[in-house]
Amino acid sequence: MNFQMKTWEDYQDAYQKSIEDPENFWAEIAQEFKWIKPWKKLLEWDFNDLQVSWFKGGKLNITENCLDRHVEHKPEQPAIIWEPNDPNEDVQVLTYKVLHDRVCRFANVLKMNGVEKGDRVCIYMPMIPELAIAVLACARIGAIHSVVFGGFSAQSISDRINDSACKVVITTDGAHRGAKLIPMKDTVDDALMNCPSVKKVIVSTRTRTPISMIKGRDVWWEEEIKKVTNECPPEVMDAEDPLFILYTSGSTGKPKGVVHTIGGYMVYTAYTFLNVFQYHPGDIYFCTADIGWITGHSYIIYGPLACGATTMMFEGIPTYPDAGRFWDIIEKHRVNTFYTAPTAIRSLMGFGDEYYKDKDLSSLRILGSVGEPINEEAWHWYHQEIGKGNCPITDTWWQTETGGIMIAPLPNITKTKPSFATLPLPGIQPILVDDQGNEIDGNGVNGNLCIKFPWPGMIRTTWGDHERCKKTYFSAYKGLYFTGDGCQRDEDGFYRITGRVDDVINVSGHRIGTAEVENAINMHTGVVESAVVGYPHDIKGQGIYAYVILEKSDHDAELTKRDILMTVSRIIGPIAKPDEIQFVSGLPKTRSGKIMRRILRKVACNELDTLGDTSTLLNPEIVDELIAGKK
Ligand code: WT7
Repeated sequence: MNFQMKTWEDYQDAYQKSIEDPENFWAEIAQEFKWIKPWKKLLEWDFNDLQVSWFKGGKLNITENCLDRHVEHKPEQPAIIWEPNDPNEDVQVLTYKVLHDRVCRFANVLKMNGVEKGDRVCIYMPMIPELAIAVLACARIGAIHSVVFGGFSAQSISDRINDSACKVVITTDGAHRGAKLIPMKDTVDDALMNCPSVKKVIVSTRTRTPISMIKGRDVWWEEEIKKVTNECPPEVMDAEDPLFILYTSGSTGKPKGVVHTIGGYMVYTAYTFLNVFQYHPGDIYFCTADIGWITGHSYIIYGPLACGATTMMFEGIPTYPDAGRFWDIIEKHRVNTFYTAPTAIRSLMGFGDEYYKDKDLSSLRILGSVGEPINEEAWHWYHQEIGKGNCPITDTWWQTETGGIMIAPLPNITKTKPSFATLPLPGIQPILVDDQGNEIDGNGVNGNLCIKFPWPGMIRTTWGDHERCKKTYFSAYKGLYFTGDGCQRDEDGFYRITGRVDDVINVSGHRIGTAEVENAINMHTGVVESAVVGYPHDIKGQGIYAYVILEKSDHDAELTKRDILMTVSRIIGPIAKPDEIQFVSGLPKTRSGKIMRRILRKVACNELDTLGDTSTLLNPEIVDELIAGKK
């Protein structure tokens, strides 16, 4: 790939060109890929009526770019190196040739089971090679994948399946996660009680735990692949056909299905992967995310494979068999680039140096961070203890909606600053606005982070509801994409993300909508009303704090709390369980009946000196109760 920036001048030139002549800038990058038919119009856009198209009229298949292209000249290069949950189990190395073969075969299995171009396929799997194969097989035949993170509940799976009317579900019997055995198929069975669109379930064997297999509906992966060949020509797709749907939480309502389209997403993830990780042929790259999130889609699968890289997949968790597991993997596979989340860094910091001091981490060249703001202490520990002071840290800011990394330093090129994502990548035009939408000029300022010009990897719509997409992202500030994040631009023009300014909480890098958690809590019997806010948490970044009003006051508080946690687990998944629950007799409300979240946030965060004026409340007396009842 001929679009790697190597020097500070390269970056400045690329950035300049991307602003002055975006069409030619992206056209030159896109030309590096294999197009079955060239595009007719590079870019058309309108942020007011939300229409964005990149590479219009272009025909391609993303798997031809991620697989066939590399099989031609380096069939034996590892594409995916898979490290199992149990360190004593065998590693699997899938070369480009093997991966191509397995993807084509499974693509034929999908066809045999009735999947056609444009159909939606739900994938609910642990981090095993079959997950990557399933994703790519969908793309091979033009089916739209909707991967659901393995930690979501049956209810969440069925909501997602129904929202996009998935025809097929791909899952496993069970999953190994640390010492735990997770019943994946059981959860899918529960989800499917209420999913009329699903005709087939394809089950891959992982744990061989007993499961139910319903005649006519459920089939085994291993049986099916025996019935097909490995010949599967890539489906000819339009650049703007959807590649996948990925559900993500916002400040209101149920999670939305963010839609990414093939051409732009491919170009953008490959461009950003090659540059932000300064990938060189032969490097071993390890991203610890789960493919159930956007980081896994863009930077375990599509970005690395589009660049012909070697990408690792890890099935387990950082603390199994002990808190040295990441460092063991780096040593064992001679990992050069390591990309993880601040929450993992903070948690591993806490276990002490005995888990890494004797490990050989000398293969590391570049460290990455993603998902939430990285605090200075964690940044320095990562830099010194893991990178031994000579691996630049790239703090990458982006979102499910942006498809790829937007603001990040280029390692060994851009100056780094702890807790700063630093500068926008070429093609990205950030702008800070005040609450009225006025642009905040100059440096040394703070504001709401927006983007004023389209980029190829951006969200195109939310599945089944284009209006919602428009309203959520393009209506807060006219003509701008609003990120939901607050941001500082310092004296040097460097960007530092300060966190969400909307009702979204970032718990261990997972995005959780407060309204969603409130709805789940409210489903618990006896709950009258609840309000959920985020508060600072040492390891998770933010914790979930829930204020709950119960019908009766003569309950066993501890037991009721546990029941509420179980309800939230059932409705959303364990990741959304509140860290703190406080029972209250009322919530602070304005005279018009709106909950004053600011006050709830201040109390949960222990910022009592800045509570502000509470006299305009309908029930000012409640504030003292909140403070008194807080632990
Ligand atoms: C939100 C997006 C994008 C991959 C994983 C999260 C926060 C993300 C950073 C960073 C500070 C960050 C933002 C953003 N965020 N990266 N480097 N520094 N905050 O994707 O689930 O869509 O969440 O994560 O608040 O809006 P996501």
